[in-house]
Amino acid sequence: MGAREISANSAGTIDLGGELSVSRLGFGAMRITGEGVWGPPKDRRAALAVLRRAVELGVNFIDTADSYGPNVSEELIAEALYPYPADLVIATKGGWNRPGPNQWTHDATPAHLRKAIEGSLKRLRLERIDVYQLHTPDPVVSFEDSVGTLARLKEEGKIRLVALSNVTQEHIERARKIVPIVSVQNRYSFADREWDYVVDYCERNGIAFIPWFPLGAGRVAGQILDQIARAHKVTPHQVALAWLLKRSPVMLPIPGTSSVRHLEENVAGASLHLAAQEYEALSRVPQLVATR
Ligand SMILES: NC(=O)c1ccc[n+]([C@@H]2O[C@H](COP(=O)([O-])OP(=O)(O)OC[C@H]3O[C@@H](n4cnc5c(N)ncnc54)[C@H](OP(=O)(O)O)[C@@H]3O)[C@@H](O)[C@H]2O)c1
Repeated sequence: MGAREISANSAGTIDLGGELSVSRLGFGAMRITGEGVWGPPKDRRAALAVLRRAVELGVNFIDTADSYGPNVSEELIAEALYPYPADLVIATKGGWNRPGPNQWTHDATPAHLRKAIEGSLKRLRLERIDVYQLHTPDPVVSFEDSVGTLARLKEEGKIRLVALSNVTQEHIERARKIVPIVSVQNRYSFADREWDYVVDYCERNGIAFIPWFPLGAGRVAGQILDQIARAHKVTPHQVALAWLLKRSPVMLPIPGTSSVRHLEENVAGASLHLAAQEYEALSRVPQLVATR
């Protein structure tokens, strides 16, 4: 793949809630924080450079969360990109906190979500968040109360579009009775297909599906990936992203990286087209792993 082909636009576009349109290859801004998604990055200038290069390459959907750092990811996005290009969509999240490195604690109470959104607005220097995702349902808080709070914040003009993360189809159906849901973000890759039925549900209902951890490859997956990558003279990461983009027109991958080189490689993957049999071979990986 030549340099002129490096553009997130090669992945096509996706519509979010009939209001926003973004390139179907986004950027996940969790990896620009410190070790264990905690504190500032080792190399601040490099993190800022990754964000700016992403936008130069046509990426106009950036995923983040108040808990990445915490705060660090949102602050770096604003520092690198504010004032934002008109077409840039920043999708942040709240409801899952980060008290220390590699630690997560739930708090999707209405009071916390309200406070979290005020914090994200301030750090991102925005008056309204384009896409706000409930990071994960809180087991000790009514799901309807969490989603209802986001619906009210939408009415109040603090959120443009509401989204979910780490949810089942039942959650999505319950949430949609309260407010339109524009995207769902769950763990997913060609080798990690627990949420296949949620991808299909999203496709049927015009909801974007945002896969996190897009490369869950084990040994078998690695062999097939490598074979296909060699045939196309590309990297295994690019093949994994191409599989996702082919899986569904509502798929919006957000590979995360702290490196400009990896970012360019991932965005270049947007123009890779897999043959039907290559796609099928990768699709069979979970069965191969299960029968070993
Ligand atoms: N909703 C949720 O609960 C949730 C959970 C996890 C993540 N997320 C979001 O999803 C995004 C993506 O998920 P993820 O970051 O966990 O997983 P990922 O994108 O599958 O993997 C990121 C890791 O792969 C490396 N990498 C990326 N591109 C590469 C390349 N071309 N070659 C070699 N290594 C490469 C990165 O290291 P380098 O920095 O060295 O490139 C990084 O360690 C996150 O950034 C975050 O925004 C959401």
